[in-house]
Order: sequence, then C-alpha cells, then structure tokens
Amino acid sequence: MQQVSPVSFDASSRTFLLTTPATSYALRVGADDVPHHLHWGAPLTLDHASALPSYDGVVSSFASTGGEELGVEGGARFGVPSLLVRYADGARGVEWHYEGHEIEGSELRVRLRDRHYPLGCTLHYAVHEDSDVIERSLTLRHLGAADGDDTIEVLRCDAAAWSVPAASGVRLSHTVGQWSGETQLRRTEAPYAETVFTSRRGVSGHFANPWLMVDAGDADETGGEVWSMVLAWSGSWRITAQRDFTGAPFTVTGGAGHDGIGWRLRPGESHRTPVFAGQYSRGGFGATSRGWHAYIAAHVLPRPDEPRPVVYNSWEATGWNVTLAGQRALAERAAELGAELFVVDDGWFGARTDERAGLGDWHPAPERFPDGLGPLVDTIRGLGMRFGLWVEPEMTNPDSDLYREHPDWVLHMPHRRRTELRHQLVLNFARTDVTEWAFKWLDRLVATYAIDFLKWDMNRAFTEAGWPAGPDAERLWSDHTRGVYAVIDRLRAAHPHLRIEGCAGGGGRADLGMLARTDQTWISDNTDAADRIGIQHGYSQIYPARTMSAWATDSPNPYTGRTAPLRHRFHIAMAGALGIGGDLSRWSDAELAEARELVALYKEIRPVVQFGEQYRLDDAVQYRTDDRVVVIAWGRSRGLRLAGLSPTDIYTDEATGAEHHGATLLTHGLPLRLPKEDGPSAVVRLRRR
Ligand code: DGJ
Repeated sequence: MQQVSPVSFDASSRTFLLTTPATSYALRVGADDVPHHLHWGAPLTLDHASALPSYDGVVSSFASTGGEELGVEGGARFGVPSLLVRYADGARGVEWHYEGHEIEGSELRVRLRDRHYPLGCTLHYAVHEDSDVIERSLTLRHLGAADGDDTIEVLRCDAAAWSVPAASGVRLSHTVGQWSGETQLRRTEAPYAETVFTSRRGVSGHFANPWLMVDAGDADETGGEVWSMVLAWSGSWRITAQRDFTGAPFTVTGGAGHDGIGWRLRPGESHRTPVFAGQYSRGGFGATSRGWHAYIAAHVLPRPDEPRPVVYNSWEATGWNVTLAGQRALAERAAELGAELFVVDDGWFGARTDERAGLGDWHPAPERFPDGLGPLVDTIRGLGMRFGLWVEPEMTNPDSDLYREHPDWVLHMPHRRRTELRHQLVLNFARTDVTEWAFKWLDRLVATYAIDFLKWDMNRAFTEAGWPAGPDAERLWSDHTRGVYAVIDRLRAAHPHLRIEGCAGGGGRADLGMLARTDQTWISDNTDAADRIGIQHGYSQIYPARTMSAWATDSPNPYTGRTAPLRHRFHIAMAGALGIGGDLSRWSDAELAEARELVALYKEIRPVVQFGEQYRLDDAVQYRTDDRVVVIAWGRSRGLRLAGLSPTDIYTDEATGAEHHGATLLTHGLPLRLPKEDGPSAVVRLRRR
C-alpha cells in the first residue's frame, strides 16, 4: 500500500494538504500572499485539494472576507481578527508577505511577515499517524534588532482560526457551569453573530471549558459530521465563533488571553501560543469524544498507561480538622476497603484551621503534627497505601508569615483594594522569585516525605491582576500560567515517581494544559451521584475517564443533602478513577463490608474503564476493550442497547454466566433489571467469547 505523506504541497497552486487517518485538511497561500482555508473534512488527495476554488468573500464596499487561516485586521476585513497588533508609530493591522514554508515529517510551518513592519508570524500545523486531531499554534516574532526600542503592542494573539463549511456551522456544543456544577453540556443553534466563550479569571474556569463542537444540527451520539476544537491552556482564554449571513465559512478563533488585555512584543523576541487543536469526525459526538480521549492518551498525558489508584481523600470527612489521630483512624479504614493511596487534604500546615489563615506557610502545623508528617506517613505506608498531600502553591492568606514577609508577591495594583476571595490572595507566578520559592518548598516537601501524589489546588480567580514593578504588567495573565507549568514540570522532572491531580475549587482548571503535566483532575466539589452524572457527562465530551477523579462519599451528601444507596454512589464514581471521600468513621460495618466489595469490583473493571473506549448510552456509560465490556447503568430498567460490539460474537455476563449475541445486544439491548430503590444502578461485565 502506498504511504500517504502526512503533509504534502503543490507548488503550482501553493496548496498544502494535511492527511490524518480519516480526514484531510487543506490550505492555500493565495495570490495575495494570504493563507486561505480550503478544506477540513473527508479525505482528499493533493490533486483534489489543488483543484478546489478559494473562498473569495463577498465583494461590496461593505465587504467582510472570511475563510483565512488566521484572520487579521487590515484591508476590507471586518470579522474577528485572530491577530490584532499596533506598531510603535500607531499603525495597526497586517499586510502579509509569504516568506516560505517548511515541512518536517508530520509538521508544517508557514512563514509570513508584514510587508512593512518588523512582524514575523509562523503558522504551525502538526498531525499524528494515530489521530485525526490536528494541532495548530502560532509563533509571533519581532524582527527588529534586539537592541531596538520599538515594541509591537499585541492586543490579541489567538493560536488558530478554524473554518467549518458555512452550511454545517449551525449548532454549537459546549459546556457551561459554576462551582459545584461544572461541565453542563449545552447544544444550541449558533446565532448569526459573534459568540464569545471566555474566562477572565486567570484559570480556564468553572463557567465554560475551552472547547467547542460544531455541527449542522443533525449529528447525534452515533453519527453525523462534527468539527471540534480544544484549547490547551489553563489561564484566561477566549474562543469566538462567527456565523455570517453572507455564506462565509463558520469560523472559530481561539487562544490564550481575554478582551482588553494587551502586552508588548519586544525587538528580537518571539512568542509561541498554546495549541488550539481541531478534529473532524463523521461518527457523531461519541466518536468525536473517543477521538479526543485517544489523542489525550497518546499525545497529552505524561503517564497514560498507568492505572490510576483508588484514592482515599479526607476532605469531606474532616474539613480543616486534620489531626494525627483522626487521619490515622481514617487511613486504617481506607486501607481495609482497598484504597491504594491516602491523600491528606487541606488543613495539615501552618496556622490552617480554617480558610482564614496559613496559605503560604508550608510546614506541618506544629501543634497538630509536632513531629512533622513522618508518623502519619509511616502509618499510611505501613497500611500498604501510598501517600498524597494537598497543596495550593499559588495562594497566600494575608494572615500568613509568607504574606507578612512578602506583601508585594501577590497580584496587586497601586491605589486599588486587594480583593480577598476565600480570604486569600493570588501569588504572582509570573515572578521568577515566587516560582523559585514555590519550587524549593515543594521540592523539599516531596523529598522529605517521598510524597507519591500531590493534589494541586487553586481556589480563587484573579483580581487586581497587576505587578507594579513588573516589566510589562499585563503579561502576567499568561506568564502566571506559564510559571505554574514550569514549577510542575520541574517538580515532575526532579521526582519522577510523583503523580499530580489538578484541581481549582473542583473543576476550575480542567483543560489540556494541565493534563499535559498532571495525571488526573478533580472535576467538581459536588460528589452527589445524581449531580455527578451530568458533570461527568460534560467532562467526558473531551476528557478521558482515566483522568476523571470521582469519589464515593457520604449519604446524605454534604453538599446537596440528597441521599443515595452506597452501591449507587460507588457505581457512579466507578465511571472514572474511583476514590472514596466519605467519613469512614461513621460508616457501619455493613457499609464498610459492601464498600470493600465495591472497591474490589472496581479494581476488576478498572482496566476496561480507564483504558477502554467509552460510549455514552441512554442513562448508562459503556467501556470496551478488545474482549471485555463494562456497562455502568442507572435510571429505568430496560433493554439497554450497547455499542461498538462485534455482532457475530457471543458475550458472556461474568456475574451470571448468561450469554448474549453481539447482534442482539446492539439491536435489542442488554436486559437489565435494576434494583427498585431510589438511585438504582448496576455494573455489568461482559467478556467476548
Ligand atoms: C477545593 C477542592 O476542590 C476541595 O476538594 C478541597 O481540596 C478544598 N479546596 C480544600 O480547601
């Protein structure tokens, strides 16, 4: 079979073709030296792509062009610019000159520069042979001599603009949310307007997650064309979708930063944006999600193949009342249940007995841990569990020794109040003295106790995001995020056994930027099984089950007051990386015994849940590896149609021995008899014969 090269180029039409296993993407550098979008969808050959007409836009004195690979300001363009700059003499906009390109294996770089001003720009594209995801980003360069004075003001610098055929850009899928109610999926008709999805909070946020799916309104879980885009960034961001009445392609431009924030590109300097990746699928929302799950496993996560441990976390049990005796008692019970990792949450350090004090003073609380954490760690290890610890490195309480010593380390502005949220202020991780301090105490802490796992939390949005003495204050919006990345990367390099869970007051920073350097995500503080079903459904649109920390906790649920059977609470949490977060000191012997069985069941299905393909069914979720199937079902008793099975094979129910034809499981469904109780649910295990 002839090998198709991942990137090819037709010199006569200046057309580039990117080829992924099931899709093609084409662009052309036009006679105007502007890279125009040609195609993103079903496979084409280079001959096909070269013969495609360019989109010429609507010609009138009120014209607005579209369909460029990167919208800019300048000429008769009136759409959303992906790149917005102002030069030292006050001129704005860009007039491109195409300088050339490089193709290196599966990467394409298209080099552009302004016809007059010293602005260079490279469009980066990368494809993989095992994924239909295309990674795009951009490098901006100030081409002036390094000793020059004339900076270029950058008002917007998105990573990429994606074009979808206009007739298909009709419906948007995305998530909305709030603290304790993250990732609620919404599908809405795209208005003929500019629709902005954004976070101005310094983190990717609870309120929207940085991705979008676009379809013609006819896709569903199992079929239909879907174009999806995901931004790999953990700070403020903005994705703007434009649906135009003129028939221009539906455009989605996105990148780091939000409206009104600008910064200066200095002579000689270059700036690389995060990746804004895109995927086209003909298999509906289910295949789109599986495509992202596989891509994240293969190209984003640091340790994709490692089973995520069964965690016990003490937060809901003890709050800030963390004591040696209390944690030991919980650890003993957690170990009996089969927990593999014991995580001590907030409240172990400094003067931290509630949310008012202590953040920044990262030493064990002397009155509660007079001999440090060593005795507790020994107990946990002696019980056969690994040891994890909660930290919130980007924060300080004004009531802390750190803040008293370094009041200038927090984000602040002269003549402005320092707004406290949760009684805390944000440390400026754009400062290298701050990141150096953070790395040092984290490095020491991890080394001292051979910590296996950190829960890296972040519990408030940015306010008064200034740095009065800083070189270019507004850069801190993105440099803070880069600082966080740098500390985590350095920490992981120094401690290769260390695993990290990303968290920001629940799921306030669940994104590909964090997943590139963490192992799992705490997706919500809401552990109520009924609420979790929706939150997990939204998270699963892009992010794989192995990254989704989910705990079984107490009933009534401490956040919602809702009751649910223990089995149901476990079943719903088994849809991801199972943890336990209840107050085990209050669980009865019968509950503990049942929980032990459920943890054992989870360990049995873990390889399928964490490493299998996921199918969202009606009131159920299914995972499939080559020869095993796990179904977690809730809701009504009924025949539940399964997906992705071989119709000609026989599947045996591992619990009952019942045999099912693949063909009938796909058409008539799995006969399910759920218990008659509030919160009915079941876990079914099938093995292909
Ligand atoms: C917010 C997290 O989401 C919780 O799980 C817990 O760690 C608290 N912070 C601790 O302050």
